[in-house]
Amino acid sequence: MPVHVTINGELTDVSHIDPDTPLLWALRDHLGLVGTKYGCGIAQCGACTVWLDGDPVRACQLPVGQLEGRSVTTVEGLAGDTLHPVQQAWVEHDVAQCGYCQAGQIMSAAALLARNPTPSDAEIDAAMAGNICRCGTYLRIRKAIKSASSSLQSGVAFFDPGEATSAVNSMNEEGARS
Ligand code: FES
Ligand code: FES
Repeated sequence: MPVHVTINGELTDVSHIDPDTPLLWALRDHLGLVGTKYGCGIAQCGACTVWLDGDPVRACQLPVGQLEGRSVTTVEGLAGDTLHPVQQAWVEHDVAQCGYCQAGQIMSAAALLARNPTPSDAEIDAAMAGNICRCGTYLRIRKAIKSASSSLQSGVAFFDPGEATSAVNSMNEEGARS
């Protein structure tokens, strides 16, 4: 049975991939999207965080065959013509050390700011608690999230993958009805 998933705004046929394959490996091994990283494989470290219909999820525990009609955003789909404010803040605060966990950190941070544009320190810590950094970049992550929050408050223009996903979902639903 065909399985279509919208990935970074593109309707993608994933029928050729074993339906039990975790989304993480579908992205990395079959679709060439290697920004999403493997850390633990058991939903404990957050390295593989992507968005599913705008919410952060662990791609290592999500069978691709269960994603018919869903929308996935990876770190590759976060920026438009310019970096997402979270990515920009990550650069300004030189957050990454080895970098391995950072795609997952960025996806969790961007999801947090999409639902809560002015998080407190406690809210940041709670939202980011599932993303482990072995290099201990947590203080820079918190500073970068505050900085991205300020950019968003100042009305900086950016590509919003959440809005783009909603638009694509509406188009797909209309297409299915017609
Ligand atoms: S690789 Fe998915 S949570 Fe660690
Ligand atoms: S930057 Fe190295 S694990 Fe986070």
